[in-house]
Amino acid sequence: MRLDTKYVYRFISKKELEPIRAEVKDAHNMLEKGTGPGSDFLGWLHLPSATSKDYLRKIKSLAADIRKTSEVFIVIGIGGSYLGSRAAIEFFGVRNHKHARPEILFAGNSIDPDYLSNLLSGIKGKEITINVISKSGTTIEPATAFRIIKNVMKKRYTASELKKRIICTTTKAKGALCQMATMKGYRSLYIPEDVGGRFSVLTAVGLLPMAVAGIDIEEVIRGAADIEKKSSSSADIDKNPAYHYAALRNLLYRNGKKIEIGCSFHVSLLSVLEWWKQLFAETEGKEGKALFPQAAIFSTDLHANGQLIQQGERNLFETFIRIKKKGADLKLPREKENIDKLNYIAGRGLSFVNRMAYEGTAKAHADGGVPNMALIIDERSAYCLGQLFYFFQRAVGISGYLLRVNPFDQPGVQAYKENMFRLLGRPACR
Ligand code: PA5
Repeated sequence: MRLDTKYVYRFISKKELEPIRAEVKDAHNMLEKGTGPGSDFLGWLHLPSATSKDYLRKIKSLAADIRKTSEVFIVIGIGGSYLGSRAAIEFFGVRNHKHARPEILFAGNSIDPDYLSNLLSGIKGKEITINVISKSGTTIEPATAFRIIKNVMKKRYTASELKKRIICTTTKAKGALCQMATMKGYRSLYIPEDVGGRFSVLTAVGLLPMAVAGIDIEEVIRGAADIEKKSSSSADIDKNPAYHYAALRNLLYRNGKKIEIGCSFHVSLLSVLEWWKQLFAETEGKEGKALFPQAAIFSTDLHANGQLIQQGERNLFETFIRIKKKGADLKLPREKENIDKLNYIAGRGLSFVNRMAYEGTAKAHADGGVPNMALIIDERSAYCLGQLFYFFQRAVGISGYLLRVNPFDQPGVQAYKENMFRLLGRPACR
């Protein structure tokens, strides 16, 4: 993978870059030595290289079992508990993954009764397995969805069948979900205590749903472990694209570029960008600071926020994710009448048109005062997906320290919950 910075250095001088090199080194040392704020949540840092083949085999075997017995697999979770697996599954194209069965659905990521009712009516009569994922076990969105779906399943399956069809991914020996799983005998997978939700995609949280979807999780981990190794071996931004990215976005922020648009010309990257958005927003948005991350798919969104990006307030920059190797392609046919005047590109593939749209956009936005850079992955593969996940995890760890916040807590998430619980009349927890 490579970071193309052509359209950033028009806005940042090499001189500005020099002082941040030392800051990046300090941030690197804080991560590697565990001396920075939030260091008891660094379990993700060397997780890929510590993930054994045996562990992955166990996940794969559970996934194979689920595929055999289920038409529908429902991932129940919110935030870090589902965004990564959804990103991975959609990265390969929702209808395109190797195993068309089971259908994979997501629940418990809102409290919207319309959404859940629709989901329930769509799965009537189908063989279901659910994976309820919650580190705390008390998050209201997944907890309410779990109760409701479990109630439906209870009418259909015996208690012993339920034990196989409910899989809990949670903290070991702690929390409500773990307690429930132990009491009821549900199958369980564990999230390491020192891995925060938004850093958990490479744990069982992400790996089981990915394996159920037929994604090669060994390759995902191999890709992540490669970036882990490269990142650990050099804090030099010239050698480490994740650190280079972290440094550039902080310099842009310091120059008044407060909004980062994570964007791509590949529709299948939308959920990866949603995962990225949560990772960066929850890691950095505190103490009155943050780059505001916004996800966009182009050229779709060029017809929505393109005008604003080109000519609105100059407080933003863009980070594109590009895929180097061409995937599927469709040739534009020639038409004799040429009423739509498209014959000048007849015979060309849509991928060429899409690529030119990117080139044109990146230049236009830079010319209009919007710095942009592109993270380029080689191909749409499990290996590259693993690289991508780890790249951004590492980058946000460094970036959070450059911003001088604790990257690994999320104290602000409590505020809405406390109001909601009060309004709902929840009894005080002892
Ligand atoms: O990244 C985070 O920590 C959060 O997004 C959590 O993943 C999210 O709030 C869900 O929490 P839990 O897994 O405890 O249900």
